[in-house]
Amino acid sequence: MKLLVTGGAGFIGSNFIRFMLKRYDDVEIVNFDALTYAGNLENLAGIEDEKRYAFVRGDITARADLDAIFDASPFDAVLNFAAETHVDRSLVDAGPFVSTNVAGTQALIDAVQQHAVPRLVQVSTDEVYGTLGPDGRFTETTPLQPNNPYSASKAGGDCLVRAAVRCHGLDAVITRCSNNFGPYQFPEKLIPLIIANALEDKDLPVYGDGMQIRDWIYVEDHCAGIDCVMRNGIAGEVYNIGGSYDVPNLEIVKTILRLLDKPESLITFVTDRPGHDRRYAIDSSRIEQELGWQPAHTFDAAIQDTIDWYRANPDWVAHTRSGEYVAYYEKMYAGR
Ligand code: NAD
Ligand code: DAU
Repeated sequence: MKLLVTGGAGFIGSNFIRFMLKRYDDVEIVNFDALTYAGNLENLAGIEDEKRYAFVRGDITARADLDAIFDASPFDAVLNFAAETHVDRSLVDAGPFVSTNVAGTQALIDAVQQHAVPRLVQVSTDEVYGTLGPDGRFTETTPLQPNNPYSASKAGGDCLVRAAVRCHGLDAVITRCSNNFGPYQFPEKLIPLIIANALEDKDLPVYGDGMQIRDWIYVEDHCAGIDCVMRNGIAGEVYNIGGSYDVPNLEIVKTILRLLDKPESLITFVTDRPGHDRRYAIDSSRIEQELGWQPAHTFDAAIQDTIDWYRANPDWVAHTRSGEYVAYYEKMYAGR
């Protein structure tokens, strides 16, 4: 089976490539990635020489790049991880989000159709559903009500996939997952940022009152869910994927401090994110009951493994927190 993974140099894409090459002997993967600030070939260190793996630099918004990769060899499936992914950046400049997550998704759909690829997996997010009140969980029939430019652009991509399914018979499935954590996550996101700052005894910025709730899933469980949907999902359908570990951000931060043996005095409450969604929680019963997927990791074990990974990889952490990241951090957090 030959797969094209877009965005495979990012956090989840790189974990997916590692997961698939380890799980299956008959899988070949081409990683197609534009290498934005979030794309990092160090995330794939150790597998560059693997015969079943190849990297091609390319942009999903560029039809010439897409045609070149599809002309080079046939694929059994395309998995679209490529995206602009950070909500806070989308609040500063939505342009790249619309370009990659909306126009790029359409360009990929067009290329997949023209090159008759049997299946497209659109990797999406629970954020397209907007925010929950105190009760209930997102199901696949929850209306799309995105509340920030990132989630609006992801909802746009999902709608374009849906339209291609209905109008042109595209074979596509959409996954909508909750908040991932694990190795190789860019330290702009909550968990790696808190771990990296705490290791350096720096302030830990918590937005607003810290009582916003996210539903955390270990990245490898998300990868297994995507594999399951790619192989067994019904064309045109949506599958939610979640970890069923929904707790307030402040609890996550305090857990990390406890495991690192660092003081809670590092916590610094800062101005809230505009339009901040209050609560996410996923109902994964569809993928569990229809496709037989279950998360295999507990939060407690996975957060310990994640902390151990960041501790064991100081060079990766130092590299990702240099260059553009320094200016980003200053702009995002100074005087907040
Ligand atoms: P990431 O920001 O770590 O990586 C994104 C990757 O996409 C990078 O390697 C980047 O270089 C690449 N990319 C960006 N624009 C591109 C373009 N125009 N052409 C080709 N490559 C491009 O993101 P992630 O956290 O790994 O997320 C991957 C996917 O999973 C995204 O679609 C995201 O919406 C979705 N998702 C993420 C989470 C999460 O918690 N991180 C949860 C649910 C869904
Ligand atoms: O739900 C899935 C989504 O999860 C993905 O689609 C997104 O790509 C991914 O970035 C993530 O979005 P969030 O906005 O939920 O993740 P983030 O890690 O940015 O923030 C998690 C929570 O922590 C959120 O409530 C904001 C808060 N936060 C975040 C940062 C970076 C803080 O309190 N302080 C921070 O410094």
